[in-house]
Amino acid sequence: MAASGRLSIAEVQRRVSAVHHGTDPEEQLRFYDGWAPDYEQDVTMLQYQAPRLAASCLASGFQGSVADALVLDVACGTGLVAQELQAKGFRCFHGLDGSQGMLDHARRKGLYQELKQCMLGQEALPAASGFYDAVLIVGALSEGQVPTSVIPELLRVTKPGGFLCLTTRNNSSNLRYKNQMRQLLDDLEQRGLWGKVKVQEVERWERATSEQKAEGDSDYISGVIYLYRKKAP
Ligand SMILES: C[S@@+](CC[C@H](N)C(=O)[O-])C[C@H]1O[C@@H](n2cnc3c(N)ncnc32)[C@H](O)[C@@H]1O
Repeated sequence: MAASGRLSIAEVQRRVSAVHHGTDPEEQLRFYDGWAPDYEQDVTMLQYQAPRLAASCLASGFQGSVADALVLDVACGTGLVAQELQAKGFRCFHGLDGSQGMLDHARRKGLYQELKQCMLGQEALPAASGFYDAVLIVGALSEGQVPTSVIPELLRVTKPGGFLCLTTRNNSSNLRYKNQMRQLLDDLEQRGLWGKVKVQEVERWERATSEQKAEGDSDYISGVIYLYRKKAP
């Protein structure tokens, strides 16, 4: 433990590496329940930039009034994505997450008009088809977290002409997941269900855990942001 009572960077890296182990979903969510009070301090220490970068990516490609857009933040965690989107002028947010602990922290931000618990990848999203102007999932599509089977559901709840912003990581232990995700994204595009707006590769996504470094990643792992636009039927 660092002298301040806060965890040292090495301790935070050790804690975060537990997220990426292939635990069962219920165990994963219990982990997040316990992590919720420290989540924001820890990810700041790891220089986690995904919420800010995804918000910028969506804002740069979005067409229409951002103040009137209804946004679904999937795997919203403590609400970092809505916070960043608010700084870009977005105002209307709904959030979903499996961890009640993370949702409790998101609720305290006072940014979301609606927050619901949902086991992503195992049940349908609790939303009508074609409901949202924009749907984001940030920091949750990776090995051991939310399965790629959620992606068609994200598309279902987006309005025709609406935008979808998804992130994943490029580190070595996530390559199988990333390739599977890429295949699904391409397949949905070939079927004419959405069109690619932007793919943004980010070199310094966040600091690597010691385990990721041992697997051949550098001090930072890289990541990628995908922005798609749903086609009209
Ligand atoms: C790394 S956090 C990202 C939170 C937020 N989007 C951000 O960028 O700060 C991942 C979130 O996904 C949620 N999560 C992971 N697996 C899940 C699942 N199968 N169903 C629902 N939520 C899940 C966790 O509870 C956690 O809040």
